[in-house]
Amino acid sequence: MTFPSEATKVVLAERPKGNVDDSTFRTEKVPLASLSPSKPTEVLVRVDYVSMDPAMRGWLNDTRSYIAPVQIGETMRAGGIGTVVKVHETESKFKIGDVVQGFFGWTNYALMDESRLTAINPPPGATALDYLGTLGSTALTAYFGLLDVGQLKSGDTCVVSGAAGAVGSVACQIAKLKGAKVIAIAGSDEKCKWLETDLGVDKALNYKSPSFRDDFKKNVGYLDVYFDNVGGDILDLCLTRLNKGARIALCGAISDYNSKPKGLTGYLSLISQRAKIEGFLVFDYASRYGEAQTELAQWLKEGKLKRRFHIEQGLEKCPKHLNGLFTGVNTGKMVVQISSMEPSRL
Ligand SMILES: NC(=O)c1ccc[n+]([C@@H]2O[C@H](COP(=O)([O-])OP(=O)(O)OC[C@H]3O[C@@H](n4cnc5c(N)ncnc54)[C@H](OP(=O)(O)O)[C@@H]3O)[C@@H](O)[C@H]2O)c1
Repeated sequence: MTFPSEATKVVLAERPKGNVDDSTFRTEKVPLASLSPSKPTEVLVRVDYVSMDPAMRGWLNDTRSYIAPVQIGETMRAGGIGTVVKVHETESKFKIGDVVQGFFGWTNYALMDESRLTAINPPPGATALDYLGTLGSTALTAYFGLLDVGQLKSGDTCVVSGAAGAVGSVACQIAKLKGAKVIAIAGSDEKCKWLETDLGVDKALNYKSPSFRDDFKKNVGYLDVYFDNVGGDILDLCLTRLNKGARIALCGAISDYNSKPKGLTGYLSLISQRAKIEGFLVFDYASRYGEAQTELAQWLKEGKLKRRFHIEQGLEKCPKHLNGLFTGVNTGKMVVQISSMEPSRL
């Protein structure tokens, strides 16, 4: 294995006010030798792919949240999969060549304590990359948000926004597998076509179409479960179309991550319809990930759960790719390839 003399990392230079731009991050180099494992529990990981998540925008704000903000000068936080390339001379839990998952950040080499790594051994029908998608936190978010928070039942009318994205596309498929009528919302006719033709939703609606509100009322009628990835106007619209006892699983609010939320006007229907709106974080279900991954892996193997990756290239372009999530460049799960994992490992 040949190594470069330096590792590259992308660090936070200043906090953005809206979208990240050229001054938000800067690239730094460090000698790779400074990342050699010096303790028995340390390993050096070559980062192969990083996950791109809308939440990363929130990690740049210096506000109270579920996780500490990334500090100025720190490597941008990011989950990923990588390959162990160096271990300490004494016994290590990992060996060179092992494929691992962890929060490596926007860097091509990460010195990690083994306690912060999970070994990846994909089950039949799955690949290492699935641990950033259909077997990773993306799919786990859809699974627990829909089934635990949303309490989805067979026969429910379920609306999913951000439906052609990573979480949304899995949520749509799980809802169909569990017997719901699924109306998907996405930002282009092409995405809607994919949702209907490939993922089998009952109807997909383009929220950028001038007839969207009418289309919504006509196709949804009233809803039992709303899996909300976007917040804002679409959440407000869904609030006006609740069945009695409806559940809104508040997963994310991407429409408001780069600006100040306007506030909701339709929320009084929560009272009249005895409905519930509940925010959740996937990490709170960590003790139950295994049960979900077993079912997700089975669906994958049987071809009942489809996955699509939007793969971008290049560590130094990560800030640009992050913005792409907010303009909807991706269909399916966006990842950035940092190094080239041997195809046989994927
Ligand atoms: N609660 C949790 O534990 C948890 C965990 C993971 C993710 N999340 C949240 O889940 C949501 C989806 O995340 P993801 O990773 O699956 O991202 P994603 O859906 O793959 O990518 C974001 C998508 O959002 C859509 N979008 C962007 N701006 C929008 C706007 N103003 N209005 C409506 N749609 C917009 C775009 O698609 P269009 O072309 O359709 O606009 C874009 O492709 C995010 O809000 C994220 O923060 C929550």
